[in-house]
Amino acid sequence: MNKPLTRSIQQKDNHFLHPWEDLKTVGENKRTVISSAEGVYFKDSDGNRLLDGPAGMWCVNIGHHRQEMADAISKQIMELTYISPWSLTSTPASELAQKLAEISPGDLNHVFYTTGGSTAVDSALRFVMFRSNVLGKPEKKHIIARTNGYHGSTYLAASASGKTRDKNYLDFKDDTFHHIADPNILNKPEGMSDQDYCKFKADELESKIVEIGQDKVAAFIAEPILASGGVILAPKGYHAACLAVCRKYDVVYISDEVVTAFGRLGHFFASEEVFDIVPDIITTAKGITSGYIPMGAFLVSDKLLESISAEDPSIVFSNGFTYSGHPVACACALKNIEIMEREGILEHVQEIAPYFQQKLYELMDIPIVKDVRGMGLMACVECDIQKNGGDSLAMDYEIGNRIDKHCQELGLLVRPLANMCVMSPPCIITKAQIDDMVSMLREGIERAMADAIADGIWDAA
Ligand SMILES: Cc1ncc(COP(=O)(O)O)c(C=O)c1O
Repeated sequence: MNKPLTRSIQQKDNHFLHPWEDLKTVGENKRTVISSAEGVYFKDSDGNRLLDGPAGMWCVNIGHHRQEMADAISKQIMELTYISPWSLTSTPASELAQKLAEISPGDLNHVFYTTGGSTAVDSALRFVMFRSNVLGKPEKKHIIARTNGYHGSTYLAASASGKTRDKNYLDFKDDTFHHIADPNILNKPEGMSDQDYCKFKADELESKIVEIGQDKVAAFIAEPILASGGVILAPKGYHAACLAVCRKYDVVYISDEVVTAFGRLGHFFASEEVFDIVPDIITTAKGITSGYIPMGAFLVSDKLLESISAEDPSIVFSNGFTYSGHPVACACALKNIEIMEREGILEHVQEIAPYFQQKLYELMDIPIVKDVRGMGLMACVECDIQKNGGDSLAMDYEIGNRIDKHCQELGLLVRPLANMCVMSPPCIITKAQIDDMVSMLREGIERAMADAIADGIWDAA
């Protein structure tokens, strides 16, 4: 039973329509109330400590409660809170733009600031469509994305997303958005080499381009690892093979690094360092400020920008936000990057990631665990709870929610995605904290399995 203060907050919270709100339960929700945080831990309003397994929402990469971040933010507020980015600029916005150009791959030297990941993706998609218009190719507007991809909740970003479970009742722009199958390495046909699977997947992209019409496809958008789709990994070489196809047909390659940038895979950006590609556009958000202030951005290559300005030097990209390049968000991002560099957080992730993956992999001995996969500090523990004749979707959600409930009782916050537990803790996590996290997760899954057996929704046979 929650304490009275918690109950009173939960009551007020019923006025808050949360993301992915289940409208049936409005007025009855009893979400955990988090009242404070430090490092990799939260404290809830009943005084329980919870290890932050998902780093908020894959975002609190440098960890919670950094005095330096608070100081940088408050200093910027007292110096200069806001200026219009249309006609003016500020020191933090310019310094951050230069820094992002320096740490991003290849000739991605210009940044368009947004308010989060969805607006970064939406703006990038608008930009490629704008480019087609400027180049006199108004038909070249089609976008290819992948099933199980997630790119955000604004109209274009949501249209690019390919998670069928999220497609209920909402409208999407489906006349110019197309989805090819994700490159899940687990779906590689038996006997096929990784190299041949890459070719097979790249051929699928090429066939889709040809099917839509070579002059009609504006962009291909892909997360380097499909994050919210369940940490789906592609075979090595897949990204480069797709980029080669894009180059062949003048299709812009957008690498959606909203999750994978700023430390999650041990680098500021993963596209080149991990996946060997220099895309035309990178979208990012989340870890750019470690979640201390909302912010997003897309980075664009000189080549792409120049292809537009060569056509018409006076052209205006009429897209932007009141808070594009907000000085406080930019000061926050600069301090975040400074901390990552000074404390060697990227190197720490590179060093600790194999341990994190190996410890989680040990959960494979639990009978309901079907797969454990990941890279860097991103992982997914997938359970299999399908029983003949049952409603598998409802069961999937049931098992995820049970694991989440048990883990919270044990002191761990997981992110259940139906039958999958996504783990992406703050990038400062230590080996001892990983041990603690995995042992709580083990206990939580085992308790959920015992419930499932008792309730007859799973049997070992
Ligand atoms: C890969 C990817 N792109 C875009 C988004 C949307 O970002 P936001 O929720 O900040 O709008 C997300 C959010 O999780 C994401 O995972």
